[in-house]
Amino acid sequence: MSLPIHFAPLQGYTDDTYRRIHHELAGGIETYYTPFVRMEAGGVRSKDMRDIRPEFNEGVPVVPQIIVKSMKEFDYLTGIVAEKGYRRIDINMGCPFPMQAKHGRGSGLLAHTDTVQEIASAIKERTDISFSVKMRLGWENADEWRAVLDILNDTPLHQITLHPRVGTQQYKGEVSMQAFDEFYALCKHPLIYNGDVTSVEQMQELEKKYPNLAGIMVGRGLLARPWMAAEYASGTAMPEHKQRALLHEMHDRLKAHFETTANSEAQVHARLRLFWEYMEEVLGRKLYKKIMKAGNLKNYLGAVREV
Ligand SMILES: Cc1cc2nc3c(=O)[nH]c(=O)nc-3n(C[C@H](O)[C@H](O)[C@H](O)COP(=O)(O)O)c2cc1C
Repeated sequence: MSLPIHFAPLQGYTDDTYRRIHHELAGGIETYYTPFVRMEAGGVRSKDMRDIRPEFNEGVPVVPQIIVKSMKEFDYLTGIVAEKGYRRIDINMGCPFPMQAKHGRGSGLLAHTDTVQEIASAIKERTDISFSVKMRLGWENADEWRAVLDILNDTPLHQITLHPRVGTQQYKGEVSMQAFDEFYALCKHPLIYNGDVTSVEQMQELEKKYPNLAGIMVGRGLLARPWMAAEYASGTAMPEHKQRALLHEMHDRLKAHFETTANSEAQVHARLRLFWEYMEEVLGRKLYKKIMKAGNLKNYLGAVREV
């Protein structure tokens, strides 16, 4: 039995449009997580609100994610998301960006066990919503998870996703599989692995090595190979010509969308270009560079035709 594959939230990449197009054309995903919704100037950014609007996510299995540093933010954002009709919310305890972490959000929350405890108590009260947590090992200390897991083990949760790095590593250095093993042994909730999965073989290895694993969350690996989850779920490799056709189909759909929503040709170009950002290995260095350095929409579209 293959494991459920979850699409990781990637701010700037996996917005509502990308998620819908991926779901319709590539598939193989159990759940798509939205990039974190956060408070700004006493409210929620309009961009974040757009991203979770139910009418833009219809038919797509989406779970909104929130990032908070306090009970005040937790109550406010939980209220906003619940108002939109969602009954599942993911809490970000992993974001490594100093702008968030230094204020006690994301992985910066892990060292504040008093706040985690308050949030855990609130989760127990809010029986109408099923919460999950996406976390790292810590902000700068790879042992911070221990105290947090003690609290979370005693809290009703849908699942925990662990990305076994510390925040200060950002996305560099190795993931610590040794720490993941320890977490796996102690975690009482369904556990999802996240970090550096870029092939179907890696998914199969995780499935074999961790018989109690509840799923795998993949971010950059799926941006690079959008077909990877469907390949894993079906057990059949997608031939290269079909992979290329899928990329064109997804790109055409994104292009049609941005042509009606962006304000200028430069904006259409800037947004479309991101589609290829993580595909250097898939495209080959030469074509990748040609696409990324095209400079304007016309040259860019010419380069994309070579895919
Ligand atoms: C550009 C970028 C944006 C991200 N945005 C979010 C986010 O909004 N929420 C979150 O929980 N993680 C975010 N992440 C982390 C990813 O969800 C994921 O945990 C990380 O990329 C490791 O998984 P991967 O190696 O499969 O990509 C982001 C990562 C990147 C590179």
